[in-house]
Amino acid sequence: MQLSIRSYRPGDREDLYEICVRTGDNGADATSLYPDPRVLPDIFVGPYLAQEPELAFVVADTAGEDRALGYILGTSDTRRFVARYLAEWLPGVVDRYPDDGGRGSELRHPEVMLGPGVDEYPAHLHIDLLPQAQGQGLGRQLMRTFLGALRERGVLRVQLGMGVRNVAARAFYDRLGFTELARPVPGLVVLGRDTLMAGADSGR
Ligand SMILES: CC(C)(COP(=O)(O)OP(=O)(O)OC[C@H]1O[C@@H](n2cnc3c(N)ncnc32)[C@H](O)[C@@H]1OP(=O)(O)O)[C@@H](O)C(=O)NCCC(=O)NCCS
Repeated sequence: MQLSIRSYRPGDREDLYEICVRTGDNGADATSLYPDPRVLPDIFVGPYLAQEPELAFVVADTAGEDRALGYILGTSDTRRFVARYLAEWLPGVVDRYPDDGGRGSELRHPEVMLGPGVDEYPAHLHIDLLPQAQGQGLGRQLMRTFLGALRERGVLRVQLGMGVRNVAARAFYDRLGFTELARPVPGLVVLGRDTLMAGADSGR
């Protein structure tokens, strides 16, 4: 395998949906957790690819079938993202999932992303790599690429939400210079960083 970073292409979409599910339980496989596990990528992948595909980058085996094994994606403007999600994305998926207090309800309420830090840290992201792509510096490369794309768009700060139980991901974000911004609800921590600071390209 020769893994490298490239821009997202529409043909990657189903691979990204699968990666999201297979890493969706705090980094582990979430396939068995939901009656319809596509609810996860319909929240955390699909709407981003629909709105800002130019901000999506993948890890692919470019010497093989060129299938995606990991991704980073997000939005440069969370307020605009939420407005378009409600107007354009939600109507197309809402009937598929019950409003059951779980992910089906989370799908219906993207406005929870409009927390107090949303104007200071207007962008947000999601990053997931399958196990065979982890631990080789590719997450760092994806992050560098994504932060560079935000910088090009004049975006100064980015945030992300993660499960507090995902200690491996927390170690990764700490290493890349993210700091804790808030714990809005039990089990969720919001981290953020500047897209301009030196840590973007170095090891800190
Ligand atoms: C978390 C994740 C994105 C990290 O990507 P990665 O490619 O494995 O990480 P990298 O190899 O690029 O590591 C970058 C740095 O973070 C550190 N790091 C990564 N994982 C770590 C861990 N579990 N413990 C300690 N440090 C870790 C590395 O040591 C490295 O530091 P260095 O370059 O100074 O040596 C990836 O493992 C992943 O997708 N995991 C499953 C899905 C997930 O949990 N996503 C995040 C949801 S919030």
